Amino acid sequence: MKKFRWGVIGAGMIAKVACKEIVKSGRHEIVAVYSRTFEKAEKFAKKYGANCCRTLEEMLEDGRVDAVYIATPHSVHYSNALACIKAGKPVLAEKAFTVNAEQARRVFAAAKEKKVFVCEAMWTRFQPVVLQAREWAENGEIGRITRFEGGFSTPATWVRPFLSDRLFKPEYAGGALLDVGVYPISFSHMLLGVPTSVSCKAKTADGIDYSDEITLTYDGARCDLSCTLEGLKSFKGVIEGEKGRIVMSNYTRPKKAVLYDEKGSKKKTYRAPKGYVFEFDAVADSVARGETESRFMTAADTVEVMEIMDECRRLSGIVYPDDIEKV
Ligand SMILES: NC(=O)c1ccc[n+]([C@@H]2O[C@H](COP(=O)([O-])OP(=O)(O)OC[C@H]3O[C@@H](n4cnc5c(N)ncnc54)[C@H](OP(=O)(O)O)[C@@H]3O)[C@@H](O)[C@H]2O)c1
Repeated sequence: MKKFRWGVIGAGMIAKVACKEIVKSGRHEIVAVYSRTFEKAEKFAKKYGANCCRTLEEMLEDGRVDAVYIATPHSVHYSNALACIKAGKPVLAEKAFTVNAEQARRVFAAAKEKKVFVCEAMWTRFQPVVLQAREWAENGEIGRITRFEGGFSTPATWVRPFLSDRLFKPEYAGGALLDVGVYPISFSHMLLGVPTSVSCKAKTADGIDYSDEITLTYDGARCDLSCTLEGLKSFKGVIEGEKGRIVMSNYTRPKKAVLYDEKGSKKKTYRAPKGYVFEFDAVADSVARGETESRFMTAADTVEVMEIMDECRRLSGIVYPDDIEKV
């Protein structure tokens, strides 16, 4: 079977992890790479026998590229995505999709006009276990959803000398919310949609948020969410309903979900592998079918998640430099 051929923008941490996994699956190939530092991109490209490009334009002119995976800091996703769309290349862009909701709207409007596929790489929504939990919730297994509780943390401040500085600098749209807070927000949105109100209390310094406590309120339900760059906390996700609950020890990339009834007795357990390959497979399928968005993570899903994050930033007073907020 012909492999799906990717161009990759950005040769950092996640590009390395995700590309290694998808190539191992045997269904994907990396054919071209472009990144800010040519030498780093060259080392990355060599691993896959891919063409290392001096400019983004050179990569986008490569007729072998079936789609582009954008793995640069959030601050450049907008311009990267617009360049790919202009060249007619389908896009899978890392989370956070853009810096703000207006940029996301502009990207999807451009994609619609050019009839080009674009999707946010919110890998959580493509995990088999998450899809099963979502199906249980949608089929009424736990009754009406009343609450979701989930967090996401990374000990970035502990290992700061070993990380690129994109997490800590406003000029890269750094901070906890866009990097890790996007997971519980996107998960809540997947379950319950657009909240009626948002509250956010952030610990901020040097123009970024180091941690956030977020509450999304819905008619008859609430989501209690947290995110931080300052250490490790539980990744447990609990979806509570009027007739039971669903528990995942790491809801962002679960290998197992357990369904309990209202008395707390175990009703069902579902296990499946986790990984990045599911979103890359889904994109390849969508592109082959000529779709312009993914049913797992639609354009509206991404824009609405970005709107919630805009509101969190408005409440916490985090404003990034004009040149990365602009459209
Ligand atoms: N899905 C996930 O599980 C997951 C996990 C981690 C990160 N992410 C997302 O992936 C993105 C990248 O994160 P990361 O941790 O991989 O960051 P990273 O390690 O800092 O890598 C970013 C890469 O982009 C390159 N770059 C920076 N500015 C660029 C520009 N203007 N044009 C082209 N390339 C540029 C960097 O080049 P240099 O080598 O010159 O610095 C580097 O190779 C972020 O949006 C993040 O939220 C997703």
